[in-house]
Amino acid sequence: MRESMVIAIDGPAASGKSTVAQRVAARLHYLYFDTGVMYRAVTLAVIQQQVDVNNQKAVEQIAMATQINVTPPSIEDGRQYDVVLNGVDVTWQIRSNEIEANVSLVSTYPGVRQAMTERQREIGLQGRVVMVGRDIGTVVMPDADIKFYLDASVQERARRRYTECMQHDMQTTYESILAAMQSRDHIDSTREIAPLRKAADAIYLNTSDLSIDMVVDQVIQQLVLTE
Ligand code: DC
Repeated sequence: MRESMVIAIDGPAASGKSTVAQRVAARLHYLYFDTGVMYRAVTLAVIQQQVDVNNQKAVEQIAMATQINVTPPSIEDGRQYDVVLNGVDVTWQIRSNEIEANVSLVSTYPGVRQAMTERQREIGLQGRVVMVGRDIGTVVMPDADIKFYLDASVQERARRRYTECMQHDMQTTYESILAAMQSRDHIDSTREIAPLRKAADAIYLNTSDLSIDMVVDQVIQQLVLTE
């Protein structure tokens, strides 16, 4: 296995990529960096400033002016990191339904992507990192040492998200989660800039019938093979 690797993991929502990446990063003592939180934080800033998410220019300006920091967890409440937006801890706020409903649109805007991609690259280039997102292998870190693309059927992914919501006593239905997920998949994979897609040199893993442990084992096996 190589020293100081950049490991890219892309895939749609609830494909298992975040959990797998966390475990792989913990085993290797690498930084785990979930790039989706940055798009979520921008979306929250837009909503807080009562700007219309359809107002591309205004949203892009917010993205450029907003300070987002992702730092090690300061509270033991199940979080993997703190997400700090302009000095305020927003780690859980960025998981709300309102953010879920708007983040895909916000992340289609070129000015938003440019601002986020630059910041993500700075962190990625430091090495010893497992980066998770939609465009890490294709755009953010095209020279990553190894790339994975995790996938699962949309029904299975909606079922996973529904189970998570039930565990947190959130009011929702399987049908509404499935519909929201289909809509996000569509926006993420058809946008003009940096759409969700597998990099040509990424290893494809379908996680529909695999446990998290099985996926982690497969990823580690592949890492061991890199020279
Ligand atoms: O992984 P997530 O669900 O937290 O991502 C939220 C949104 O952010 C997702 O719908 C698309 C966008 N995103 C992106 O465009 N590029 C990334 N590298 C990560 C996320």
